[in-house]
Amino acid sequence: MWEKRVTVLTTIGVVLAFVNYSSARLAPDFIHPCNNTESTCLIQATKDAIPEFVKGLPNLGVPALDPFIIDELPIQLPGVKVTFLDGKVTGLRKCQVLNVEAYLEKNIFIIEVRCNITIKGKYTAVGRLLLFPINGEGDSKIKIVNSVIKLNIKTKYYKDADGRDHFGIKNYKYTFDYGDRVHYTINNLFKGNPELSNTVLQFLNENWRVVTEEFGQPVVEYAMNVTVDTAKKFFDAIPYDELLYVPIPKY
Ligand SMILES: *[C@@H]1O[C@H](CO)[C@@H](O)[C@H](O)[C@H]1NC(C)=O
Ligand SMILES: *[C@@H]1O[C@H](CO)[C@@H](O)[C@H](O)[C@H]1NC(C)=O
Ligand SMILES: *[C@@H]1O[C@H](CO)[C@@H](O)[C@H](O)[C@H]1NC(C)=O
Repeated sequence: MWEKRVTVLTTIGVVLAFVNYSSARLAPDFIHPCNNTESTCLIQATKDAIPEFVKGLPNLGVPALDPFIIDELPIQLPGVKVTFLDGKVTGLRKCQVLNVEAYLEKNIFIIEVRCNITIKGKYTAVGRLLLFPINGEGDSKIKIVNSVIKLNIKTKYYKDADGRDHFGIKNYKYTFDYGDRVHYTINNLFKGNPELSNTVLQFLNENWRVVTEEFGQPVVEYAMNVTVDTAKKFFDAIPYDELLYVPIPKY
């Protein structure tokens, strides 16, 4: 009898604690809101958040960014149609935060990071590459060393159905510097011709910057789109006053 009572009380206690907790705060523990918009605090808060944020927040509808899964990504290049399949992008959790700036009145948010990114997956490539007809299919791995990504977001504010303020994203611009080096490991570029496959792969690696600038843009555009989309979902889920302890400007 006594034991039973303890159990019931414990259960009620746990339920109350949970209800209380969930109504008190939606933001996960790794969000450390700043009391001002000084860069030093924003940079630290971003550093604290990235390794956890990129794992995704399934209960809030925010997908993972590391690893990030690409089911299928077609890329039309001049002369070659490349399709990237069963891809996995990793590395974002270790990005270094170079700068973060927020101008609440002007609706500007800037973030700059330096990242090592690895993209692994299967591919098919059909068309012509460097004068050769190409009909490749195999495994590929692309390693990007010390790329610098600068994202300039135009924000907005809005109220949700409960009347709570949120950050929104109106639009964005970015620059993506491929950094120190891009390594390509691609097998079977020319089916049944390993010598030619290796020679062309070597060419791609020796000319990685030109090659990457040509072929990387659609991939980067896709990646930035996914990243900003993920941030949008996060801002939709967590109210403004749980992200930043600075009064929201009139809007
Ligand atoms: C903000 O201020 C509160 C209260 O003074 C303090 O506990 C907290 O650490 C501050 N947050 C940051 C990120 O500095
Ligand atoms: C990326 O990797 C290189 C070499 O492995 C290392 O020196 C560099 O610090 C790394 N950069 C980041 C942003 O982690
Ligand atoms: C960006 O994402 C949106 C929504 O997810 C999609 O409608 C749009 O086509 C995407 N744009 C690019 C360039 O991938």
